[in-house]
Amino acid sequence: MVPLKRRKVVSSGAGSTGSHDVTFPTRFPQVVLFLLERKMGASRRAFLSQLGGKNGFQVEEQFSERVTHVVCENNSGEEVRRWLESQVGGRGRSAAHLLDVSWFTESMRAGRPVEILDRHKLQEQQMNEVEVEAFSTPSYACQRRTTLDNHNAVLTDALSLLAENAELSDEDGRGVAFRRAAAVLKSLPEPVTGLTQLRGLPCLGGHSLRVIKDVLENGASSEAEATKQSERFKALKVLTGIFGVGVKTAERWIRDGIVGLQQLQLSERPLNRAQRAGLRHYEDLNRPVTRAEAAAVAAVVEEAVAAVLPGARTTLIGGFRRGKLTGHDVDFLMTHPEEGREAGLMPKVVSWLDSQGFLLYQKTTRNSYLEAKDGPARPPSNMDRFERCYSIFKLPEEARRGGEEARRGAEEAEPCSGAAAASQVKGEGPKPWRAVRVDLVVSPISQFAFALLGWTGSKLFERELRRWAGHEKAMSLSSHALYDNKQSRYLRASSEEEIFAHLGLEYVPPSERNA
Ligand code: UTP
Ligand code: MN
Repeated sequence: MVPLKRRKVVSSGAGSTGSHDVTFPTRFPQVVLFLLERKMGASRRAFLSQLGGKNGFQVEEQFSERVTHVVCENNSGEEVRRWLESQVGGRGRSAAHLLDVSWFTESMRAGRPVEILDRHKLQEQQMNEVEVEAFSTPSYACQRRTTLDNHNAVLTDALSLLAENAELSDEDGRGVAFRRAAAVLKSLPEPVTGLTQLRGLPCLGGHSLRVIKDVLENGASSEAEATKQSERFKALKVLTGIFGVGVKTAERWIRDGIVGLQQLQLSERPLNRAQRAGLRHYEDLNRPVTRAEAAAVAAVVEEAVAAVLPGARTTLIGGFRRGKLTGHDVDFLMTHPEEGREAGLMPKVVSWLDSQGFLLYQKTTRNSYLEAKDGPARPPSNMDRFERCYSIFKLPEEARRGGEEARRGAEEAEPCSGAAAASQVKGEGPKPWRAVRVDLVVSPISQFAFALLGWTGSKLFERELRRWAGHEKAMSLSSHALYDNKQSRYLRASSEEEIFAHLGLEYVPPSERNA
């Protein structure tokens, strides 16, 4: 143990790793701590400072503009803000986080700066408009409004690529960190031009900041560029681009030297039904689906639903509901206004679609959610348990014009049971149809609002909603229900607005959920 000694007071020049007798290497260069002695007391402050230093944190003895995190005990935000102003004087407001000591102790336990949650922040009164930072943004994506109007696409493209690479490498934690950083930048009202503008913004860890710095200074991220060029990333992209092929399978193939489609075909690997369909329609399924095509699919699905269960409702969900111009698939949610009438809807819709020649592939999973049996616990992943159909549609060219014509076009094609219908026409001019991934979900009306919210996305928005519910409200949110752990009861809702209200969040419309 290093004995508790009086520390020398050293002025905090740039690059200083704190002002202790014993210095430890700085592990988190983006984090500069200052512990406020006020109400904490000198000896506790000394102890905590030393602890911070040992864990590789920079702890400043004196407050300066370098400080990024001010740690306090038993102080209100107001009190600290006033104290800070007396320190930085005429040089403007400090952008540092004002945090409760709980953030510090949790970070010590974790051995790294933990993410700043609302409960870590000191409560503050309304600040004057003039005091507000260049950008200020709440830390959960579901508290923000994120339209498709992204002013920082160059930055978010680099971060998203690194997120994708992490996800393809089974490093989900890192993936989420990059996704969160990208989401913060997507929500900003203007392009970022300098790193200093990012001070005080949540979710920007050291790695993300390095990527951002690289792009701002050099126009591109060397890490993202290198990743894009890497053989492994390219192979994973191509192979997981096959419908039905996940990361695990792709990795196995790569280990066996299969890095492309031709090699896969030549290898004569046994493929399952989904993968065979995925390979057959590879090109179509990797071409973005346009809004016009989504609308054409919607017309077909609505016709199917109306034919098999009059009164049932079909709603476009996923990215197209958020206003995206293109998507990788088209998602629909079906229900009936009378509870229970939705039972049996999926097989009927699927068999109608198949009989009309619209299906190149389909696989249906049954609804396995039972509130009484499953309780509020969420299934391990965000997989939910609605009756669901993963399909590949055969969308005739004329279908874009919708209605009758669409149907007639499809009738000429063979249904999914006929294998010939599935083979792409090669060297015979453009084929008169394209393959489109379509997901269908059925929910009982009592769960409809939860399903609608859960399936509208974006994926990060959903993840953040669930994190908010759990961490900030002690509630469990799924695409089926919302459970209040404190009251030990389910909170019912018949609209998305009611769910946001239960969660204590301002309502965010779909077009602003593009986090
Ligand atoms: P998608 O993967 O279709 O994403 O999931 P998207 O936002 O529509 O984007 P593109 O354009 O198709 O790529 C749509 C929503 O459905 C939820 C996801 O969380 C996402 O919000 N979802 C998807 C589930 O809840 N469970 C699943 O098993 C799959
Ligand atoms: Mn989708």
